[in-house]
Amino acid sequence: MTVPIPAPPSIPFIGNVTALDKELPIKSFNLLADQYGEIYQLNLAGRMLVVVNTHELVAEVSDEKRFMKKISPGLLEVRNAAGDGLFTAHPDEPNWHLAHRILMPAFSTMNVRNMFDDMMDITSQLIMKWDRFGPNHLIDPASDFTKITLDALSLCTMSYRLNSFYLEDAHPFAKAMGDFLGESGHRSMRPGFMNTVMYNQNAKFQQDRATMLNLVDDILVNRKEHPSDKKDLLHLMMTGKDKETGLGLPDDNIKFNLLTFLIAGHETTSGMLTFSLYYLLKNPEAMRRLREEIDEKIGDRPMVVEDVHKLPYLLAVMREVLRLSPSAPMRTVAPLEDTLLKGKYAVQKDISLTVNVAAAHRDPKVYGPDPEKFRPERMMDGKFQALPANAWQPFGFGMRGCIGRPFAWQEVQIVLATVLQRFDIVLQDPAYELQLKQTLTIKPKNFYIRAIPRAGKP
Ligand code: HEM
Repeated sequence: MTVPIPAPPSIPFIGNVTALDKELPIKSFNLLADQYGEIYQLNLAGRMLVVVNTHELVAEVSDEKRFMKKISPGLLEVRNAAGDGLFTAHPDEPNWHLAHRILMPAFSTMNVRNMFDDMMDITSQLIMKWDRFGPNHLIDPASDFTKITLDALSLCTMSYRLNSFYLEDAHPFAKAMGDFLGESGHRSMRPGFMNTVMYNQNAKFQQDRATMLNLVDDILVNRKEHPSDKKDLLHLMMTGKDKETGLGLPDDNIKFNLLTFLIAGHETTSGMLTFSLYYLLKNPEAMRRLREEIDEKIGDRPMVVEDVHKLPYLLAVMREVLRLSPSAPMRTVAPLEDTLLKGKYAVQKDISLTVNVAAAHRDPKVYGPDPEKFRPERMMDGKFQALPANAWQPFGFGMRGCIGRPFAWQEVQIVLATVLQRFDIVLQDPAYELQLKQTLTIKPKNFYIRAIPRAGKP
């Protein structure tokens, strides 16, 4: 027997549109999960959406024989710039398969190890900046971490220096991208006819799109004019051939994928870095334990690539940060056929099933009575591997899971270990409680710190 999927009361024509906070939809999704439990459905001006919130349901929809990634309305808007790049490609698009097969090897742990020196290079620019500004300078870590992640990505994968640390403000690409993603989210929540008459927003959307695509054009032209020996990701994109078909990537798909890596790779990682500082500052015992590990294993010398595998508590901290605040908090899949969830909730073929990863990561059936608590000890090696399958999914799932995971992992290890080795970090306002900012990803808002250089550190 089927059971109806709960739904909030709906208003004629617009359905549940007003139930979602325009600036912070994740907050509304979480409140609705508190109210309706494991599953609920929304009608967004005629577009039906089913949201799943528990580990059991997330595990069920992570079965690639029954469900596949669906390009959500927000991602459909992002396609205006990223086309059939890896992140926004529909499952049946041939260029996804081609790019996936050609580019996967570039992100193996082995290849990412070779990017260590370039990651350290960019990290040292942040260290120098914080050092020179001194202990009284107010730091917006989300902004500086965005500079690190954007610059590291373009240097490591495209051998192209964006030099964000030499700019007063954010890099124009980062600014255009933030606005473009924000507007993509807004457009996806407005009824279609409204988008056509929002002339100013449309002009700005097109302008931001052009700023982003101009940068990847520049990068591609620059490489063609100045060929490099470096076997980086861009080299692979331009020369790689698919073993199955013998085909290479068409030029427009190279541009879409360059843009995709810049978009998918930098906000997510800078969000993770910023959340990490927040949780560590709010949990002094975890900060103390992590600092002790870094001092013992690395001490006063600069970090080297071998250190990456010597920091088990840092690993647990990173896993716990992404459990509580997965910087990409939701993803969408669709059933391949009409089906029943948990044998009782009927869902139709192709309907959008939104996976609320942030809610499922707080499932007490998996994480016990204190799922809201930041407790890295629960994520130490051994305990982490013993979690049920699909209980921790910040990088998505299966074929469409994150290709950049080893890249992000190594970068966060380097930045956190180096920052904590060199500075005592303090909150500007000790009473600060987490506020969020959301575009395609989430990150802390109004979060400021000071960085006090530690005596005797390199
Ligand atoms: C896909 C999260 C860093 C590139 C994804 C997905 C998630 C995710 C959840 C799946 C999205 C979906 O199912 O719709 C994260 C997080 C990161 C991170 C939390 C950092 C903490 C990176 C980096 C790169 C990257 C550094 C690039 C170097 C991509 C790409 C895809 C993807 C290209 C699409 C893969 C495909 O569908 O073939 N990421 N990501 N990500 N990510 Fe990441």
